Amino acid sequence: MMKALRFSLLQFLLSVYFFSFCPVNLAMNIEQDPLIKTMEDFSGYAIHEPQLSESLSSSLSVDTQNLQKQIDELSTFSDTSAPSVTRILYSEKDVMSRRYIKNIMEASGLSVREDAVGNIFGQWSGYEPELSPVSTGSHTDAIPYSGKYDGVVGVLGAIEAINVLKRSGFKPKRSLEVIMFASEEPTRFGISCLGSRLLAGSEELVQQLKKTVDSENVAFFDAAKSAGYKNAEDLSSVFLKNGSYSGFVELHIEQGPILEEEGISIGVVTAIAAPASIKVEFEGNGGHAGAVLMPQRNDAGLAAAELALAVEKHVLESGSVDTVGTVGILELHPGAINSIPSKSHLEIDTRDIDEERRNSVVDKIYQSALSISKRRGVKLSQFNIVNKDPPALSDELIIKAAESASRELNLTYKKMISRAYHDSLFMARITPMGMIFIPCYKGYSHKPEEYSSITDIANGVKVLALTLAKLSIS
Ligand SMILES: *[C@@H]1O[C@H](CO)[C@@H](O)[C@H](O)[C@H]1NC(C)=O
Ligand SMILES: *[C@@H]1O[C@H](CO)[C@@H](O)[C@H](O)[C@H]1NC(C)=O
Ligand SMILES: [Zn+2]
Repeated sequence: MMKALRFSLLQFLLSVYFFSFCPVNLAMNIEQDPLIKTMEDFSGYAIHEPQLSESLSSSLSVDTQNLQKQIDELSTFSDTSAPSVTRILYSEKDVMSRRYIKNIMEASGLSVREDAVGNIFGQWSGYEPELSPVSTGSHTDAIPYSGKYDGVVGVLGAIEAINVLKRSGFKPKRSLEVIMFASEEPTRFGISCLGSRLLAGSEELVQQLKKTVDSENVAFFDAAKSAGYKNAEDLSSVFLKNGSYSGFVELHIEQGPILEEEGISIGVVTAIAAPASIKVEFEGNGGHAGAVLMPQRNDAGLAAAELALAVEKHVLESGSVDTVGTVGILELHPGAINSIPSKSHLEIDTRDIDEERRNSVVDKIYQSALSISKRRGVKLSQFNIVNKDPPALSDELIIKAAESASRELNLTYKKMISRAYHDSLFMARITPMGMIFIPCYKGYSHKPEEYSSITDIANGVKVLALTLAKLSIS
């Protein structure tokens, strides 16, 4: 009696096993075909690249009504009134938006986890869950008086991309994971891409966060705890190992005018430019604007003006349109019409997609600052390179996957550079990275007029979905 029962139980389990894992068995049968195996051993390549069904691209449909509704709903979690959006890290509205995202992830059947600083992950398990997952995602924090699409399209759009794949009947081999990164914007603590920098294992940031406070003198850890992240101090638990993901793709509005002007649906990002930021101060003797004659002056203001022009000169001399430089802050002290500036303060932002070229511009700016200070008899009291993040190149396979996804969906696309930077810049340190851009109205971003049509968003979601599907089976 017992024996018979055990037997049928075993049979039952076996049939459940076979039934639910059938696709795996089929896949394994293909791989274990002795002829193919010999060919593979001989050539060193996998002969049978798994193929997506040809009809997948035409069976992807985005629930545009629901996606727009979610974008609109999320925009109401804001500290300023519509149409502007203000959502600052660990504020009440940020906590509400986190809950909103987690609920949508759960409703989409993703298993949700949150790390010690509030990066949120929602996973759809693949049929080979031991393989490293493919990830996608972006941010939902918003600088004061900004719009409702920056970042949000890459979070809600990514969850919808998973829903699109689920509805099409697609089953991923590698798990797919949606990430909502904590604090891409530097608003509260002056640190941009805080969550993704930590995921990428920045020890430097760990040290910095121990003494970081906001403008109201609230410590980073206290702010995190007040938002419910009781273990925020355990920052090393946030680190991801290199290779934790087999790839990362971010969907984002372009934040520039190119796609809209050229009437192109999709931007496939090939590289992300990264800024170096520099703070400079000159000090002279100042003096009365009438009494001190020109030969006796050491005017800190003119030193700053000269350096600003030198920034432009060095950038133009780089020989590439991808090198840019801006003096966005120039302050003179004491700032009176009849007083020779005794101090000047400049902040310089220079960016490129080529790290060496950008760093050589930074060096030249430094040399100019030294020679200007010598010639004008002013002291170069500060030349502080505040940050100097390396730019990142997209991964060739991810570029190819996004291009062929666009083609299969009959969408026009072009390869382009991201001149703004994103969480992807830091994810590139630990995983092959790619980005998909969609057009936005006049390139507006970081203001209430920011807008992308739901048609453009849906195109981006489909390209993301198909790209993830391709990466998931490779
Ligand atoms: C793209 O265009 C081709 C040729 O017109 C068509 O067969 C295919 O179904 C289209 N694909 C999609 C996803 O619309
Ligand atoms: C980590 O991963 C990146 C991106 O995939 C790769 O370029 C890099 O060489 C890896 N670094 C280490 C230390 O393994
Ligand atoms: Zn963004």
